[in-house]
Amino acid sequence: MQKTALITGSAKRIGKAMAEHLAAEGWNVAIHYNRSKEPANRLADELKAKYPDQTFRAFGADLMSDKETECLIASVIEKMGKPYLLVNNASVFEPKSLRDSSLRFFDEQLTVNFRAPFILSRDFANLCESGIIINLTDTRINTHKSNFAAYTLAKKALWELTKMAAGEWGPDIRVNAIAPGLTLAPADKGEDYLLELAGKIPMKRPGGIEPILKSLDFILENDYLTGQILYCDGGENLGPRN
Ligand SMILES: NC(=O)c1ccc[n+]([C@@H]2O[C@H](COP(=O)([O-])OP(=O)(O)OC[C@H]3O[C@@H](n4cnc5c(N)ncnc54)[C@H](OP(=O)(O)O)[C@@H]3O)[C@@H](O)[C@H]2O)c1
Repeated sequence: MQKTALITGSAKRIGKAMAEHLAAEGWNVAIHYNRSKEPANRLADELKAKYPDQTFRAFGADLMSDKETECLIASVIEKMGKPYLLVNNASVFEPKSLRDSSLRFFDEQLTVNFRAPFILSRDFANLCESGIIINLTDTRINTHKSNFAAYTLAKKALWELTKMAAGEWGPDIRVNAIAPGLTLAPADKGEDYLLELAGKIPMKRPGGIEPILKSLDFILENDYLTGQILYCDGGENLGPRN
């Protein structure tokens, strides 16, 4: 039987690559977007053309709005049936130290990166009852660097939620996390940005998206794995060398 995956923020970049990858493995995909309506619809059309026996649909929701977030799982169920996989991928990634973080900024980073994944995970558990949740965190959760303070705190909380949910919802729902490192440069930066940072990590190169797709497959296939985190970061979580 075909299974359905809901991937938040999957019109572009890492989310899109996961949508394409799961489609190639036979999944139906609910492509969630906020601002990228056209790219999301285009992706759904491209996947439909390539895999005509599977279902692909785009779903808009602003994860800053509790109301819109709380409608998302129900609306996927209504249009596509119960998803078996939820990937909490959507994110906002803005630099600011603790000292410079206004409450409004702090709320935005915490809402998209933590509150929305909590709402979606809770609704998935209540409405779908079985399946897999994968949370995209970040290798930064292993540090106390404050240059992306609110983002990092939100991703640390998301990792704690991963473990708590794995404990509460097993065996029906497995909950795991993927922690990327140097994967794709932020939209406003070029490749040089990642290459320069890569000089400081053990693998000495950015990883690209492939390690994330391999980790996704590993989590899906390994049905005894729950409450775990896979660092796809070329060893960055080990910290700086002497
Ligand atoms: N890129 C990296 O190197 C890297 C490194 C470490 C961790 N990660 C993690 O991996 C995941 C994917 O990274 P990425 O760089 O591909 O992500 P991204 O491009 O920064 O964001 C993915 C999507 O999140 C959606 N989003 C943002 N605000 C939203 C809102 N208010 N409501 C709904 N959706 C919203 C956007 O959708 P729309 O375009 O539709 O608005 C965006 O396309 C993230 O969780 C990130 O933290 C990435």
